[in-house]
Amino acid sequence: MHLAGVAQQALLDQEAHRLYGLLGSVSRQDGTKWTAEQCWQAAPLVLRINQLKKEKNAVILAHSYTTPDLVYGVADFSGDSYALSRKAAETSADTIIFAGVWFMAETAKILNPSKRVIIPAGRAGCTLADAITQEEVCALKAGHPGVPVLCYVNSTADVKAVSDICVTSGNVFDIAAKLPQKELIFVPDLLMARNLEIELQRRGTPKKVIAAGGSCCVHDKYKPENVAALRRQYPGIKVLVHPECHPEVCAAADYVGSTQGMTEYVAKSDGKLFGLLTEQGLVNRLEAEYKDKKFVGPFGICSYMKLNTLTNTMKALLNPSPDQVVELAPDVIERARKSLENMFEMSR
Ligand code: 13P
Ligand code: SF4
Repeated sequence: MHLAGVAQQALLDQEAHRLYGLLGSVSRQDGTKWTAEQCWQAAPLVLRINQLKKEKNAVILAHSYTTPDLVYGVADFSGDSYALSRKAAETSADTIIFAGVWFMAETAKILNPSKRVIIPAGRAGCTLADAITQEEVCALKAGHPGVPVLCYVNSTADVKAVSDICVTSGNVFDIAAKLPQKELIFVPDLLMARNLEIELQRRGTPKKVIAAGGSCCVHDKYKPENVAALRRQYPGIKVLVHPECHPEVCAAADYVGSTQGMTEYVAKSDGKLFGLLTEQGLVNRLEAEYKDKKFVGPFGICSYMKLNTLTNTMKALLNPSPDQVVELAPDVIERARKSLENMFEMSR
């Protein structure tokens, strides 16, 4: 092997070791942990993608639900939808590679329209964003004149464009509580809408929540019995759930919050054992970053998020196909942006 080959081999070894140091404690979908060999197989693509990122002045944002080879191999930043949208708004890179689902990549484009926004997974859906159309929201508004429309960030750009304020799982309760109106329309998560009504009542700011849409195919599966079973099997366990779960599940849990909120709860807690009724990607992050703590499920899998891979991330950088590139009409960008700016304003 000549010198260049030796140097390249050393880089690969170093990268494979770095990945294994992080991923060796992380579960795969089949319940096994990442092996040294799997990290070794990922290392060449990881190195190539990181090199391409520099050459093309691109930034990679990855939602925590994407696979850990993306999160720890190539992402410049990973987190929940609120944190990622802030990063998308602030970046000075020419290209944003958004490893997530389609509505998230649209949000990045809305917030930074002069950038090229590319999603490795192409038009990866979301059962929430796909649950309601712009026309249905307009019909709801017409039936309730003057009632503000809050749209969960898991919604299409078209739906954001006809909504007053966008919200995320991290700020929905605070923003709704601040509104002076006693009635609001909330789309497209029927379960979060019920959780919102309950939380507003609990805070002493009751409001009527008019809801339409659907549910998250990952979080709507959980039942209160899942929480009860965890408590029986592991006395003293702390159970964390997402506000996309049924209200009965939220009522039985110790903590209800966004992926970021759950991470902060684990970071601050002295506890060593946590029940996480949420997507496995978040669990993977916690396994990598809190090796002294243990996490039990049942964990869910968002098959849309898992469509992002190292291979299609490299394609997104090298030669994206039209279905990977986010294009939105200027008037949709302008109107949808207002609902996001209202969220940032009200989160201050
Ligand atoms: P977060 O807002 O917590 O990132 O959640 C996004 C999501 O899709 C949850 O299912
Ligand atoms: Fe949509 Fe649920 Fe997947 Fe989140 S986990 S992207 S809400 S389907």
